[in-house]
Amino acid sequence: MNYLPAFFDLKERPALIVGGGEAAARRLRLLRKAGAKVTVVAPRIGDEIAAAVAEGAATLRQRGFVSGDVNGQTAVFAATGLADVDARVAEAARAVGVPVNVADRAELSSFIVPAIVERDPVVIGISTGGAAPVLASRLREAIERLLPARLGRLADFADTFRTAVKATVPSATSRLRFWDRFFDGPVADQVLAGNETGARERMLTLVNGRGANEPSRGGVAIVGAGPGDPDLLTLRALRLIQRADVVIHDKLVGPGVLDLVRRDAERIYVGKSKGDHSKSQDEINALLAARALAGRRVVRLKGGDPFIFGRGGEEVEYLRRRGIAVELVPGITAALGCAAAVGIPLTHRDHAQAVTLATGQGKDGEPELDWATLAQLNQTLVIYMGVGAAGRIAARLIEHGLEPATPVAVIENGTLPNQKAVYGRLSGLGWLVRRSGIAGPALIVIGRVAALADAATPAIAHEPVRAVAV
Ligand SMILES: C[S@@+](CC[C@H](N)C(=O)[O-])C[C@H]1O[C@@H](n2cnc3c(N)ncnc32)[C@H](O)[C@@H]1O
Repeated sequence: MNYLPAFFDLKERPALIVGGGEAAARRLRLLRKAGAKVTVVAPRIGDEIAAAVAEGAATLRQRGFVSGDVNGQTAVFAATGLADVDARVAEAARAVGVPVNVADRAELSSFIVPAIVERDPVVIGISTGGAAPVLASRLREAIERLLPARLGRLADFADTFRTAVKATVPSATSRLRFWDRFFDGPVADQVLAGNETGARERMLTLVNGRGANEPSRGGVAIVGAGPGDPDLLTLRALRLIQRADVVIHDKLVGPGVLDLVRRDAERIYVGKSKGDHSKSQDEINALLAARALAGRRVVRLKGGDPFIFGRGGEEVEYLRRRGIAVELVPGITAALGCAAAVGIPLTHRDHAQAVTLATGQGKDGEPELDWATLAQLNQTLVIYMGVGAAGRIAARLIEHGLEPATPVAVIENGTLPNQKAVYGRLSGLGWLVRRSGIAGPALIVIGRVAALADAATPAIAHEPVRAVAV
């Protein structure tokens, strides 16, 4: 190890920055966060430093550096970018034993400033010992993605209960177990999800007596997995998937997303496919509750968004009625994912002032929709689960006044490597689906915006307006 990782306490301590440009401003930002009393020495300063000085957040000595500036400082930062000045600052600081950092000059520095991931009060410093600063910043980005935004809130939350836990759980070993369970359990999940009021109530039950030694209860996160491309998962979805003990998933959740599940996690498929004995919604509800009550961290993974034609609402209601902690994580719904994948803007100032998401599945095959409301040219209509009834949907819309020449797009497996998209006119929608062999999962986009798709214009231009094919 070339450097000892350590954290300086600079609160109310004097710190010196020599330099007035961008590198000096970056140091100033950091030192302000650390609560240091900062003096800046520079003949000229940029806007950011000037604003900090005007606010009283730093003292300015507007002149060149003199070696006496380092006296009485806790730490010195040279950031002039002028090799000879920076070297003089380093020499002066070393001469009086004050730690010194020179921007981009590790060889002149007695300490280096790491790349930082900050979730105050949690701070992570990353250093490659000056060997590869770009690698350090890549690592920082990777860690940023992994850590929940509210990690700092979680640390503060735990801190507020430290004394109470110490009083109710006197043995150090049991306390360790308590905190282990806490950070793995539903209370911590609630804090991370932003529900501190709920978390506090639960924590009080845990701390006040019986709770402290109670077997831990799991919880369920109902998570939107997006339209298929794993890159379209939310950060929170990714974090929960990677921590889950059990993942209960649908057919629409593809292998790319499932690859992110921990190897030792239990995976349960509950999707419907032809010939399969699929689980009923009641069975799925019961399964979710049973695993959570057994103390497991359950992720219920659903394609797209759980609340868009996803029956997520029913599952939430069932679990909450049984007192099981439920967290909801939205996902990118198929309409948004597919539209973006083919370049269709769902709204457009000139073409669509509204978007309607509708299901194409009805009790007897034909959906029961308010056709007159849907048959409007100045909106975009996105039909989920509609390819089987595409011809009938087109016929109903035309009957209710929608222009037969309205552009349409049908997108199958949107965002996935086997994505397929075809374009045409409303009058030929049934034929278009049949001809292209699209069987789903697919979306139908109806409206003038469909003609704006990256590949749509030639297809639509060459497509004759046909009689309605049902
Ligand atoms: C039961 S719904 C679930 C919708 C999901 N909750 C969502 O928000 O996207 C299933 C339908 O969503 C649409 N769908 C889901 N993923 C899709 C994709 N990658 N490409 C095209 N359509 C998709 C299809 O219409 C499919 O039949």
